[in-house]
Amino acid sequence: MKFKSITGTKDILPHDSIKWIRVEEKLRNIFNSYCYIEIRTPIFEETTLFARGIGQATDIVGKEMYTFYDKGGVSLTLRPEMTASVVRSFIQHNFNKESMLSKVYYIGPVFRQERPQAGRFRQFHQFGIEALGSQHPSIDAEIISITSDIYNTFNIKDFELKINSVGCTCCRYQYRDVLRDALLKVSDKLSEESKKRIETNPLRVLDSKDVKDKEATANAPLLLNYLCDECATHFEKVKDYLDELEIKYVVDARIVRGLDYYTKTAFEIITTSLGSQDALAGGGRYDLLVEELGGQKTFAIGAAAGMERLMLMLEKENSDIFENCQNLLFVITVDDTIRVKALKLANELRGQGLSVDLDFNSRSVKAQFREANRKNSKAVLVVSNDELARGTVTLKDMNSGEQQSVAKNLLLEEIKKVLQKQV
Ligand code: HAM
Repeated sequence: MKFKSITGTKDILPHDSIKWIRVEEKLRNIFNSYCYIEIRTPIFEETTLFARGIGQATDIVGKEMYTFYDKGGVSLTLRPEMTASVVRSFIQHNFNKESMLSKVYYIGPVFRQERPQAGRFRQFHQFGIEALGSQHPSIDAEIISITSDIYNTFNIKDFELKINSVGCTCCRYQYRDVLRDALLKVSDKLSEESKKRIETNPLRVLDSKDVKDKEATANAPLLLNYLCDECATHFEKVKDYLDELEIKYVVDARIVRGLDYYTKTAFEIITTSLGSQDALAGGGRYDLLVEELGGQKTFAIGAAAGMERLMLMLEKENSDIFENCQNLLFVITVDDTIRVKALKLANELRGQGLSVDLDFNSRSVKAQFREANRKNSKAVLVVSNDELARGTVTLKDMNSGEQQSVAKNLLLEEIKKVLQKQV
């Protein structure tokens, strides 16, 4: 019997993991530059944390969670997102005792039992940021600008930032009634899914991708026109900050997000490059979630993005981030009698910070050169007894093909010159 990875999951193979590490490094640098510190929470939590946090009426909780009982009969769920886990940890460890504002980031796997398709997986990876402890609109602007900065930093051209306000309990509940009445009037024109949502989650009908729903709700009332003064003022200030920071955005009153915890600011980053899975990132304020999950009132906002979708974008846009992924040096042994010395030389160079590989199958010099090429080695060292007796090694630049005999005491310097030429 041959085992295969589970539908909707993917191996990140060695030639890809190098790319992932590169991208993750860059993300960590961006987060560090804004003083966000990494948090790592467990991959599974009590089911009720997500059910309460994300909302019973959402697709994630209703249809997509991987839930199981442990041997003690406790219902556990593989995290379908990270925000609820971060908030649980924030409350449990009393982060706000240390500082008024806690800024954290995360990178890791999440699980949703959705129908797999291009850009949509059952195990995928999210990177994200959460800022807990400020209601100031400037933190909304910071979270939004970091999220959009990420795509700029990676030189991604095809993306658009859409922002909206989904109001607070006061204005949203009034609006829900207005919207429900309007939807009931056009219910015969709505998709089956949206008909069901009129009662359970009417706002989601507005961001349905179904053409029938789009046509039927073209003139539906929009929450932006029903915001209370506080929410309207907050939204204006967020936009002012974004304008000052020269962050390009469009206001899209139909953005409602697929999770129930949002209040006020909500935003998404979308692309036209990935077909129907067009969301690269999403986020917003969740000023009620900490209290909802048992903590003290804490204003908060965050965002998360799909790692696989970022990788797809980088590939589509031929990003140069994947070039020169490794400064690999390959040591070629002319025969087995030199093997021990070659191993020692490789270890010396590794100690100097280089990535060094060599052949372990006593292959011919020609075959070793092929292997060095296959591994995209930047340079090759050919080690022979004759040369070592003279205190030299042959260094070949694999890009230009230039070859030279180098004295061992000058080797590191010469290797660095060759590697630098290829940056
Ligand atoms: P979300 O919009 O559900 O938000 O997910 C964020 C991102 O994860 C999406 O924009 C998309 O790029 C990626 N994503 C979602 N589902 C899949 C999938 N099945 N396969 C591949 N990628 C996917 C959240 O999860 C919120 N926790 C964001 C947040 C943080 N809000 C406040 N703080």
